[in-house]
Amino acid sequence: MDSLDLVSPYLFKHKRRNFLVKDTLRPSDLDALQHIEIRPTDVFLITYPKSGTVWMQQILVQIMDAAHPEQAEDGHNRTRVPWLEERTADNPLRERPDPRIFGTHLPADMLPLGVKAEQSKAVYVWRNPKDILVSLYHFAHTWALLETPKSFEGFFQQFLDGEVYMGSWFNHVQEYFAAQNQLNIHFVQYENMLKDLRGEVVKLCAFLEKDLTGEAIDHVVKMSSFNSMKTDPKANYKDLIEKGRYLGETMRKGVAGDWKNYLTVAQNERFDQVFRDKMSNSPLTCTWEIDQ
Ligand code: A3P
Repeated sequence: MDSLDLVSPYLFKHKRRNFLVKDTLRPSDLDALQHIEIRPTDVFLITYPKSGTVWMQQILVQIMDAAHPEQAEDGHNRTRVPWLEERTADNPLRERPDPRIFGTHLPADMLPLGVKAEQSKAVYVWRNPKDILVSLYHFAHTWALLETPKSFEGFFQQFLDGEVYMGSWFNHVQEYFAAQNQLNIHFVQYENMLKDLRGEVVKLCAFLEKDLTGEAIDHVVKMSSFNSMKTDPKANYKDLIEKGRYLGETMRKGVAGDWKNYLTVAQNERFDQVFRDKMSNSPLTCTWEIDQ
């Protein structure tokens, strides 16, 4: 049993990032993930938590079902897009038909080495961090593996300090953008999907080299809308509420700008200052809100 560098009873630090104490993965398992067998046909869905992972999971599954109808399955998306960090190195769930899709929150330097060596396709979804903070704050009340925040202010500060699940948003995003010349990676902004989902699906199909008809693309878009996913048991993880693993809805609001309902003027100014300081060398600009 590895000894853990505990940040709290809920999180331990490994390679500057925070992982879940209540999860089964230990530092040696995380390190072993770097050496799993990767195929050039594999697709990786990579996100910082609460950036639109489940949304992109649905989009990828729908695209693959249209492109490979003979392989379409009836299972939950989380079975069809297994989570990398839940699996130890020899887990048979990896033995899926090609093209396999994996989801992960791992930072760039902890990805399986084969992702770079094989130039497997990676889709990185990113979202404005104020909305991520609010989404994660709610999720921390919902998911038993995370500590329930004692106050919004306390959680706000932890997020800015990178003392939350998976560590600093600022580092995660910047490290992936810095690695873009080494990886075969396609960046998708959550807010751009809100503005023009079809346009983003078309770009994604081009990256994935999946030649879908206009009708098939329309179907992907329809199946991936917030309202459709909210009632789609294969996509929305509702069964985990029934099984008691989640205490509430994870398809919460799905908008850009909800942070305005939570951050005080002073907190917003503090956030902006930290953003300016940490992102000063980055070309990234966020979309902070969209009129619905
Ligand atoms: P909110 O909590 O702000 O509503 P992840 O899947 O990475 O955990 O991200 C969860 C966030 O994505 C939640 O944000 C959720 O509502 C949002 N989301 C999931 N499906 C969506 C969709 N089809 N359209 C817009 N947002 C979606």
